[in-house]
Amino acid sequence: MKNKEQILNRLRENGEFVSGEELSEQLHISRTAVWKSVNSLREEGYEIESATNRGYRLGSCPDRYSPAEISAGLETEFLGRNAFCYASIDSTNEEAKRKALSGAPNGSLFVAEQQTGGKGRLGRSWASPAGTGLWCSVLLRPGILPLRVSVTTLLAGLAVDRAVRSLTGCNAKIKWPNDIVIGGKKICGILTEMTAEVDRIEFVVVGIGVNVNNTAFPENIRDKATSVRIESGKNLRRVSLLQEILIQFETLLKQNAESDPVFWEEYKKCCISLGRRVGFTRRGAGVTGTAVDVSPKGELIVELEDGTRENVTAGEVSVQGIYGQKVE
Ligand code: BTN
Repeated sequence: MKNKEQILNRLRENGEFVSGEELSEQLHISRTAVWKSVNSLREEGYEIESATNRGYRLGSCPDRYSPAEISAGLETEFLGRNAFCYASIDSTNEEAKRKALSGAPNGSLFVAEQQTGGKGRLGRSWASPAGTGLWCSVLLRPGILPLRVSVTTLLAGLAVDRAVRSLTGCNAKIKWPNDIVIGGKKICGILTEMTAEVDRIEFVVVGIGVNVNNTAFPENIRDKATSVRIESGKNLRRVSLLQEILIQFETLLKQNAESDPVFWEEYKKCCISLGRRVGFTRRGAGVTGTAVDVSPKGELIVELEDGTRENVTAGEVSVQGIYGQKVE
């Protein structure tokens, strides 16, 4: 571990003033090396108070993704324990897949300040400007059947929903399968990709994009997109949001939540699509109906005009009143 990381850890653990002498003795480095590291940490945005005869005390930490910031206080067992952070990358999903092929372990996290080729569902692009959002992917090597992957993505959606609610108090809802919306506009999208053989999953990449501190959106998506900041009026620490999502997601994964009716109750309570008119395409033709339930496999159950029910598995489902949609 570098001097800077060790000093940061000591100041964090202690919470109070730690003398330069103590730091230099514990870390087996000179007082000058301590002083240089503290200055360099300050340049990175850490507030470190210094007082004569007392030493150094840690104040606020920058809201920047680094393995040290992410792991500080992270109460997970495997999710996010191995974190890769980038100032800029094409797409964290792509990077996760590359690293998965070279052996990155289960639970590895990939997070970027900016994505130059952010990917959305159904081949769309995902705007990922620097500094405002949470653009991350987690790698899972779940040892599950390919069919269970669609449920894994619902667990991720509920994890984000819980995290946003608990940190902001906002009434965040899930548009099936896993967009997170506040007041009818989208704050988060999830893109899950997998590499599998017929009966065995090699790995799954769950990519999560959250608009956190954006204050405005380009004209073309203004009526559909919003941010946690706009809706809650709070500037959220992105690292804290990331940590909370990881904790919630890991809890749901470890519980095998999808086999518990309590999970489905919570999911359905949060699911804004239920009880609304929805539209989707079947073999190229538009179909409309009312979303009435979510199946134990994670499918949206839609009641059609003639009273029959259809289980929708994937693709785009437009929901009356969400993103300004009208479903005739
Ligand atoms: C959607 O279309 O709603 C899904 C958007 C998913 C965006 C995230 S941002 C992090 C990860 N990397 C990507 O390229 N996409 C996902």
